[in-house]
Amino acid sequence: MTEQVLFRFMTREDIDDVMKVETSSFTVPWKREAFYNELVHNQFAKYIVMTEKERVIGYCGMWLILDEAHITNIAVLPEYRGKKLGEALLMQAKLLAIQHRASTMTLEVRVSNHVAQSLYRKLGFQPGGIRKNYYTDNQEDALVMWVNLNE
Ligand SMILES: CC(C)(COP(=O)(O)OP(=O)(O)OC[C@H]1O[C@@H](n2cnc3c(N)ncnc32)[C@H](O)[C@@H]1OP(=O)(O)O)[C@@H](O)C(=O)NCCC(=O)NCCS
Repeated sequence: MTEQVLFRFMTREDIDDVMKVETSSFTVPWKREAFYNELVHNQFAKYIVMTEKERVIGYCGMWLILDEAHITNIAVLPEYRGKKLGEALLMQAKLLAIQHRASTMTLEVRVSNHVAQSLYRKLGFQPGGIRKNYYTDNQEDALVMWVNLNE
């Protein structure tokens, strides 16, 4: 049974915990330095963590540039998946983008990642195009998806 889930901005102190989510979620996980750079040096970056009893169970990052929000990554710890928590996390990210007056939100997703695509479609994202050979590990194509935040 999942306890109360909370959302807050990610800090440098969360990097180790976010790395656990990251390494259990992606074939080519980001390194710690990437998160450090996002938090410390990228003025456009906003990262949210989702916690249960202060344990980080998911995170979502975005770049807010002018009126566009670009999701960099979203992931939930494997044992917490399938409980609508990824959906809640993405909704928080959308809310944050709207608060920053973004009018569109975009992301790239592996063409083979049907679970994530299904989540994005559920929250209103539409397919916008293909970026060929976007993922360097296996040259997989990325599907670009976007949603209008003004509707
Ligand atoms: C993608 C991810 C964040 C979804 O999180 P989650 O908490 O498991 O998803 P939720 O329980 O909130 O499900 C929301 C929707 O996602 C889709 N979904 C979730 N699990 C699914 C599954 N096993 N099969 C198909 N669709 C699924 C459904 O549309 C679902 O809505 P529904 O329950 O009404 O059918 C999670 O699977 C994850 O961390 N995956 C690894 C990292 C990743 O691929 N990130 C995306 C990078 S672009």
